[in-house]
Amino acid sequence: MLTAQSDPHSCAKPAEAVIKHLKLDIKLDFNVKQIEGEAIYTIEKSDSAREIWMDTRGIAIEGAWLDDGTAASYRFADEQAFLGRPLSVTLQKNTKSVRIKYRTSTDAAALQWLDPSQTGDGKSPFVFTQGQAILTRTWIPVQDSPGIRFTWEATIQVPSEFMAVMSGKNVQEHNENGKYTCRMELPVPAYLIALAAGDIRFQPIGSRCGVYAEPGMLDKAAKEFADMEKMLLAAEQLYGPYAWGRYDVIVLPASFPFGGMENPRLTFATPTIIAGDGSLTALIAHELAHSWSGNLVTNSNWDDFWLNEGFTVYFERRIMEALYGKSYADMLEVLGYKDLQETLADLGKDNADTQLKLKLEGRDPDDGMTDIAYEKGCFLLVYLEKQVGRESFDSFLNRYFKEFAFKGITTERFLHYLKSRNGLRLTPEVLAVVEKWILKPGLPGECTQPDSERFKQVEAMVPRILAGEKAARNETKLWVTHEWLHFIRSLPENLDQLKAASLDKQYGFSQSGNSEIRFAWLNYRLNRGDMSVISSVDAFLGAVGRRKFVLPLYKAMMKQAAMQETAKSIYAKHRDAYHAVTRQSVDEVMGRP
Ligand code: BES
Ligand code: ZN
Repeated sequence: MLTAQSDPHSCAKPAEAVIKHLKLDIKLDFNVKQIEGEAIYTIEKSDSAREIWMDTRGIAIEGAWLDDGTAASYRFADEQAFLGRPLSVTLQKNTKSVRIKYRTSTDAAALQWLDPSQTGDGKSPFVFTQGQAILTRTWIPVQDSPGIRFTWEATIQVPSEFMAVMSGKNVQEHNENGKYTCRMELPVPAYLIALAAGDIRFQPIGSRCGVYAEPGMLDKAAKEFADMEKMLLAAEQLYGPYAWGRYDVIVLPASFPFGGMENPRLTFATPTIIAGDGSLTALIAHELAHSWSGNLVTNSNWDDFWLNEGFTVYFERRIMEALYGKSYADMLEVLGYKDLQETLADLGKDNADTQLKLKLEGRDPDDGMTDIAYEKGCFLLVYLEKQVGRESFDSFLNRYFKEFAFKGITTERFLHYLKSRNGLRLTPEVLAVVEKWILKPGLPGECTQPDSERFKQVEAMVPRILAGEKAARNETKLWVTHEWLHFIRSLPENLDQLKAASLDKQYGFSQSGNSEIRFAWLNYRLNRGDMSVISSVDAFLGAVGRRKFVLPLYKAMMKQAAMQETAKSIYAKHRDAYHAVTRQSVDEVMGRP
């Protein structure tokens, strides 16, 4: 059915003509760093429509044809900052499909082409894509709006030593001719189409789960994610059957700009969650949870991003609670609450970007995607759960995922559903709180501050450790990553530099193989002007490209006059190795055009 909808970040006019199926036939050229090929779109149109509008950015079109074989005329509208160039293809009355031949530019923002030295194994080149929020249009001409869903299939030609995988039904074996096919039989929005190619291998973990990675990473990743199948079962117990068939993860090279990306059937993940002890796998629970909140029930446009991320953080913590107990989930919740407080302080609690419902028209959606959607969104669901009890809330979420499966959801629609017969039967007072939570900036006083018994013990240890008490060391032996993160966050503002150095020497924070601990420590020290950590900062910034780590460290250095020159020279050295998403954010901090 043709549905009217509006998305300020897409030029598509789905009520006139909309993509129903996409067939890609592409070739990856690692030498020129380009993708070239063709896309065939099966479309649905209204009787009167004479054109179809698609989003493109930096894509060269080499020709367009209609299903009757005739050449189609096409034109571009004016280029707009970050949105790209709208493409219109002229249609005939009875056009059922359109074929477009195209080529990406060498600086397509979704793509990162890595030299062998930038990969884990260091032997072969690698390429991956990142679609969310509006980058798929830089590698496929497409109706790039989260409210438009279609099925797709693809044939990908790579050099014969490589393997290509996508966010669909993949093969698990390398083949000799370098031709791979992949398909997605359930309708998805364009931002969830993703591709990775390089020296990739597969290892199963359970009957429905497995991991893809470079050969040198494969065993480590499979061990780290040993509980994946259990997570999947726990998720299904909570909110209903997993809709997508298999659930695999691909561990990418370290320049991947995010922790994880919920590409259907194949989560893309940073290698910085491979800690050796499984302690950072809440991220897998998070991306898995998106298989319901986000991939099944999708924000209609980016103003409603909290409906993807807030629900997912809530769901992620429920999965972690099911597997590792309440005390574990409590720690995650407290850390999240602290992140939320920091973001609120950072943005200012009257800032419109602290509303759940955003107004991103005219802006790059990436700019509005802060911890607000994640944590303020999650705590709204925690509040609702408290009002009605866990059982009722869970059955509401089950209904919600069923009702809106394979559909877009707006904040308004969600509120309407919440108030409907299938909703939660809330009192007018509670509803008023919910509306305030969603539509107004800041965090309502009704949000209960979470706490964690395990963290209270950590807090009690801080003075004992600082006093150098020997017995204290033994008591920290059982601490997991989150306790250490809380420990670092609980250290005094003005800890003496020598004292900090001796702590670091004892516990090895700045050289930790655990990326979260290393980051927390370096960030803490940099923000206090401690130059002694610079060489570790430099090494870390040269080894990882995950924006969540990279950006705050550059920010911390730029805040201090004495560190700015160092920051600039470190950035000059590493900038080329970062993905466009990370580069764009750091460029702003570094005052680059
Ligand atoms: N969908 C997001 C990543 C994203 C958000 C990409 C906005 C582009 C624009 C993903 O699910 C996510 O939230 N990842 C987090 C990890 C999570 C555990 C909070 C990340 O990358 O750090
Ligand atoms: Zn997410």
